Amino acid sequence: MTEKELMQAAQNARFYSYCPYSDFRVGAALLTRSGKLYTGCNVENAGYSATNCAERTAIFKAVSEGEREFEAIAIVGGRTGETSPFTAPCGVCRQVIAEFCPADFKILLGTPEKFRAFTLNELLPYSFTSENL
Ligand code: THU
Repeated sequence: MTEKELMQAAQNARFYSYCPYSDFRVGAALLTRSGKLYTGCNVENAGYSATNCAERTAIFKAVSEGEREFEAIAIVGGRTGETSPFTAPCGVCRQVIAEFCPADFKILLGTPEKFRAFTLNELLPYSFTSENL
């Protein structure tokens, strides 16, 4: 799967976003080392803090099916009917990514037409992980 195809999968995953409060649709596409694809969308809640971001939906889906080794994640967001040029993962999602992925894990941000690759270390330097315990 190419990086562009992964970004397109993230874009498609926005279709299922449940976002009645923000109207901001986020999709994530997570590629495992074994080549499997797990997608996720944000799932909001009337108690706002119970909201789950798209990235965590995808990661929790994968981990709950036995996957622990990941190649890359693509993230696409924007209000309904639009695609934002750049949607970065929130701090909680960066921390969850750090639980399972190495410092050089690839995170693709932007749109399927124009995106940029970051490493986890670039987005979450000096992180707190199991190695600090
Ligand atoms: N959101 C995500 O799903 N992922 C992000 O990386 C940023 C924010 C969601 C949470 C909420 O449903 C909406 O976007 C607005 O914050």
